[in-house]
Amino acid sequence: MSANVVLVTGAGGFLANWVARALLEDKKTPNIRLILTDVIEPKNSLTTAKKFNLKTAAEPEDILTIKADLTKPEAIDALFNTPFGIPDTVYCMHGIMSRGSEENFDLGLKINADSVRELIQATRHYGTKLGRLIRFVYTSSCAVYGGPFPEIITQETIATPEGAYGLAKLSSELYINEFSRRGLIDGRILRLPTIAVRPGPPAAAASAFISGIIREPIQGLPATCPVGQSLSSPELDFPVWIASPQTTTQNLIHAKHIPSSSFPKHSRVVCSPGFTVTIRDEIEALRLVGGEEVLKLIKFENDPETKRLLDSWPQRFDNSYAFSLGFVVDEGGMVPIVERFKRDVEAGLA
Ligand SMILES: NC(=O)c1ccc[n+]([C@@H]2O[C@H](COP(=O)([O-])OP(=O)(O)OC[C@H]3O[C@@H](n4cnc5c(N)ncnc54)[C@H](O)[C@@H]3O)[C@@H](O)[C@H]2O)c1
Repeated sequence: MSANVVLVTGAGGFLANWVARALLEDKKTPNIRLILTDVIEPKNSLTTAKKFNLKTAAEPEDILTIKADLTKPEAIDALFNTPFGIPDTVYCMHGIMSRGSEENFDLGLKINADSVRELIQATRHYGTKLGRLIRFVYTSSCAVYGGPFPEIITQETIATPEGAYGLAKLSSELYINEFSRRGLIDGRILRLPTIAVRPGPPAAAASAFISGIIREPIQGLPATCPVGQSLSSPELDFPVWIASPQTTTQNLIHAKHIPSSSFPKHSRVVCSPGFTVTIRDEIEALRLVGGEEVLKLIKFENDPETKRLLDSWPQRFDNSYAFSLGFVVDEGGMVPIVERFKRDVEAGLA
């Protein structure tokens, strides 16, 4: 059986690591060879897979970890010239997040737009050498949208970003769509909701606190909420569009397997399913799972810039197009997500 060679960028980060782990268990991707890359040393997902007790036939020699700065074209080229050969699938997941790319505009463009374009071109080039289209799965974001918002964002809503992060995501999407329409790559774009509860250290994202106000208190640590002044502030009724890491990972694996004929010719964009939750709902879920005492660990420091970015992101989506393609959504709201995170913390997995 020939190998399934999958390249995952951003593999030192949170979500790509989850995806790499899930790929190792994916029955539709047998005989996998994984190329994991990041500007920091990528995590070896086989080590974390063992910790998570996952079932995988992969051996250490089936995984390559490559530390590389993808703003350098030669570093991108090298990823297609490893002993594993040309990848048949690329997960393009590296980047700097919303707050980071807002504060460092030029670096944000270089990483989130220029290096992605370079990777798309390399995918096209090496697909020609391989003799078939390489699948290109891209993690976009709801930050591609800007106001004024309709009550519910649908597949037809036009994206008009209000920040540097959304701009770079949207411009990359346009390249992936056009390269796919021309038959140069086989793109799949998921506009991801904010992921909560995200384990590990906080991201440089305006939305980081949406995970932080659960993650830190559940571990007995203080957390800062940049929205509102106290537990009774009306600002806590602010709605956000979220999905759990488990469901998002499942959807990213599913994206790889959808036949290209399922998409319209000119668009590979799908809004990955999510649900709306208010900050107050989150805090209530924390209280139900962690108890009254943990709420004291949340400190309020109202931050207008965080609020500005959050206000510019949409809060409600129609999931029906994504469902028609087989994507899934979290069931049961916030409480099961917080419960699962607590279990993971107790088991030493988060
Ligand atoms: N986490 C979320 O809520 C969310 C929501 C929407 C979209 N996304 C997208 O999903 C992807 C993964 O997000 P994440 O939360 O895991 O982010 P993350 O910050 O944990 O991971 C991103 C990784 O990209 C790497 N990177 C940055 N610059 C690089 C460079 N020049 N060369 C190589 N690697 C570089 C970083 O070192 C980091 O490990 C990103 O594309 C992000 O935009 C995430």
